[in-house]
Amino acid sequence: MLVKSLAAFGLVAPASALLRFGCSQLVIERLDPLVTPGLAPSPHLHQIIGGNAFNVTMDPTKDISKEATCTTCQFSEDFSNYWTAVLFFKAKNGTYHRVPIIPNLGFEGAQGGMTVYYMQDGLANYQQSSKVTAFKTGFRMLIGEASYRSKPQAARFRQITYTCLQTPATRFPETMDFPTKPCPAGIMANVRFPTCWDGKNLDSPDHMAHMSYPETGTFESGGPCPATHPVRVPQLMYETIWDTSKFNVKEEWPETGQPFVWAMGDTTGFGSHGDYVFGWKDDSLQRAMDSPCYVNCPTLKTQSVTAMNKCSVPKTVTEDVDTWIPELPGSSTGV
Ligand SMILES: *[C@@H]1O[C@H](CO)[C@@H](O)[C@H](O)[C@H]1NC(C)=O
Ligand SMILES: *[C@@H]1O[C@H](CO)[C@@H](O)[C@H](O)[C@H]1NC(C)=O
Repeated sequence: MLVKSLAAFGLVAPASALLRFGCSQLVIERLDPLVTPGLAPSPHLHQIIGGNAFNVTMDPTKDISKEATCTTCQFSEDFSNYWTAVLFFKAKNGTYHRVPIIPNLGFEGAQGGMTVYYMQDGLANYQQSSKVTAFKTGFRMLIGEASYRSKPQAARFRQITYTCLQTPATRFPETMDFPTKPCPAGIMANVRFPTCWDGKNLDSPDHMAHMSYPETGTFESGGPCPATHPVRVPQLMYETIWDTSKFNVKEEWPETGQPFVWAMGDTTGFGSHGDYVFGWKDDSLQRAMDSPCYVNCPTLKTQSVTAMNKCSVPKTVTEDVDTWIPELPGSSTGV
């Protein structure tokens, strides 16, 4: 079943009231309607989950919750789209293979995809003790910078990390760069978004300036929002589990480091990024945020894993990314 307490998995108890849910893969292809709308193919390969209104343009004036007819997410009123870059393994002979994605603990049966969190509160009492304002129709954001390759650069972002899974339940430690040793149960890529909104702009030219981190501390520690970005929104977080296990033969690793590389050619891990296009139906997300949710949320409608897996969109960029390939898709176009 989808709805179990995190404690049942032996995970550390969460320090907040939250929604936690699985979404199956919608499509894996070279599109990025947020950063390069209208461009097909986009510079690098993405893996996308959520509603089937996802396409190359995604006109920001349209309400995708009204355009979509299905979603790969457990909560069937969530037609948002969520995406990240795709991870590849680079073999010693120089060819690449896409690393498969597997579902998280509690979401067995889902085809690939991600686990999504909307955290309502950061206080360590399991209770919701303050309000968050849900995102609005047309809202979009990006966090992370695909061209970053160093720790000082990536330090601009808080909490874009990796967990080297010893078992599916491993949650610590988190690192900002790729794990340097084989991870028996895969690599979990964690992307946490900023939680303070300027209250006016649904998007911004870099897709980040309308958002800010708390002035001090973190969302989890109850840090206050700055005056420029006074509206406290839920903390959105993605977890993607890259099943690196079949690439863990040390003899096949390069002498100089680890063999995994993001689709944009990043072998460091510092270029990790996540994209979000809001698409919850009507006030469903605000309703959920206003109720005491813990993993599941009684005010929300859910659908079966079978229904999640059934939703998909046809690929518009057709290229073979499921065999050994001589170079990364789009490698000639740069980041
Ligand atoms: C993409 O989806 C939007 C709605 O979100 C629709 O208006 C538009 O026609 C679609 N474009 C393409 C190229 O399919
Ligand atoms: C490259 O190496 C991989 C992994 O060992 C292997 O499966 C693949 O067949 C090799 N490709 C070529 C062209 O040698």
